[in-house]
Amino acid sequence: MAANSSKGDYHEPEYAKPQDKSKPPYYHTNIEHKIPAETHELLEKYSHIPREQHSEHVHKTRDQAWEIRSYPCIGLGSWLVPQLRRQPVYNEILQRVKAGGSVLDVGTFIGYDLRALAYDGAPSDQLYGLDIVNHFDVGYDFFRDRDSFKGRFIEADMLSPDAPELQPLRKSVDIVIVSQVLHQWNWVNQVRGAQALTTFTKPGSMIVGNQIGNVKAQEIASLGNNLPDVYRHDPESFTRLWDEVGKAVGMRFETQGRLRSFVEMGWDPNDAAWMDKGTRVLEFVVQRLE
Ligand SMILES: C[S@@+](CC[C@H](N)C(=O)[O-])C[C@H]1O[C@@H](n2cnc3c(N)ncnc32)[C@H](O)[C@@H]1O
Repeated sequence: MAANSSKGDYHEPEYAKPQDKSKPPYYHTNIEHKIPAETHELLEKYSHIPREQHSEHVHKTRDQAWEIRSYPCIGLGSWLVPQLRRQPVYNEILQRVKAGGSVLDVGTFIGYDLRALAYDGAPSDQLYGLDIVNHFDVGYDFFRDRDSFKGRFIEADMLSPDAPELQPLRKSVDIVIVSQVLHQWNWVNQVRGAQALTTFTKPGSMIVGNQIGNVKAQEIASLGNNLPDVYRHDPESFTRLWDEVGKAVGMRFETQGRLRSFVEMGWDPNDAAWMDKGTRVLEFVVQRLE
């Protein structure tokens, strides 16, 4: 993993390096109350895990994932909320995939959004997950679908879209999901990350997801001292970012974004207590027009 620098010149953040659970404010020992009804349903009906085993299963999975990378969302249990499924555009996405469209989930982690799509009837062989590190085996164990899920997981760095394993997806993906990823960078690297996402698109493609934002768009020194500067968007700054990306890559995008509170996300508002004042979640849909 590249070292942090205030210029944001790294591919994944230093704070995600595996670390002692007792240190960060975002490892909560008990996350049982974070399991929403949809996830209980998925575990019961898709993974065939009896309800009384869910808590143990979730905690075991969380700790396996934490050993790989210690992101705040892993420690807090916010990954238990079906984020894509709760976006207003979800049904449109589902219909497009049922009609033959493909999905690439960038920074897929254990592949929750892909499993939600599969559970809702999307053909799983049209689903792809990309991550810089293999959380995929933890995902197969969590969802107990190693034999039935036909989606493909690719271990690669999204900032290196020229990697050979990513070439089959070039200019071909209908829906690119990117949730809780771009916010790990400053403006410059978010532009770089967004440009990399465009390599998978074609006119008509949609890029959808969320990231930590703020009521006041700004670059901040996030997560304490000596940590990298990261850019927190509001909807307007996010549109500017995509205008800049569009000019750089010769494409045109229409951006819709809205800020949601942690409560609106289905997360515990106390989970934002250690974060910056004005923290919200920016939920977005970016349409590639041409
Ligand atoms: C905070 S987690 C978000 C997981 C999931 N998308 C969600 O919303 O619950 C960020 C994920 O992005 C992955 N990631 C970080 N940097 C990456 C990079 N440069 N290329 C590909 N994946 C990356 C991490 O390994 C991690 O699984």
